[in-house]
Amino acid sequence: MKSVTLQNKKFEIFITENEISEIINSISNQINNSGLKNPLFIAVLNGSFIFASDIMRKINIKNSEISFIKLSSYIATKSKGEVTELIGLTQNIKNRNVVILEDIVDTGITLEKIISLVEEEEIADIKVATLLFKPEAYKKDIKIDFIGKSITNDFVVGYGLDYNEIGRNLPHIYKLKE
Ligand code: IMP
Repeated sequence: MKSVTLQNKKFEIFITENEISEIINSISNQINNSGLKNPLFIAVLNGSFIFASDIMRKINIKNSEISFIKLSSYIATKSKGEVTELIGLTQNIKNRNVVILEDIVDTGITLEKIISLVEEEEIADIKVATLLFKPEAYKKDIKIDFIGKSITNDFVVGYGLDYNEIGRNLPHIYKLKE
């Protein structure tokens, strides 16, 4: 399909299924050749569920593990106001080499929160892999170690990414038509 309509918004094809698999091969090769030992991959739900499952099948590092987290935000009674916490980080990550798997990094606010929460535990090392990166929107200094593809500042859906929770099932990635 060259274009799709999701809730009256038109999206046009942007990154095909074939190109996505080339990107997956490239990121997984970089990770496999990075010298990482016993990595613990932490995939950020919901968006990265397809990316994480495709990446994991290409990882050939011994003793690789994967776990999944989700961010939850709520208004706390504390003075700071909004508090975000990780749901799902049940295992002990102390002294682990963590690799965060993100679907997309836009402003970097989400990534910064995830890293600060993961770093509350005494981990050995943290690296970040993202399928898509929007350099024009990025506001943080956190190094992103493995980038699948840098894209323009457009809204994209498909391959796990959603528009109002729909479109995650699309095999290609589409971008919003102007
Ligand atoms: P950030 O905190 O601004 O970096 O945004 C990160 C989160 O916003 C991602 O994990 C996505 O859930 C969502 N997001 C950012 N850009 C897009 C997009 O183009 N399509 C779908 N979701 C997006």
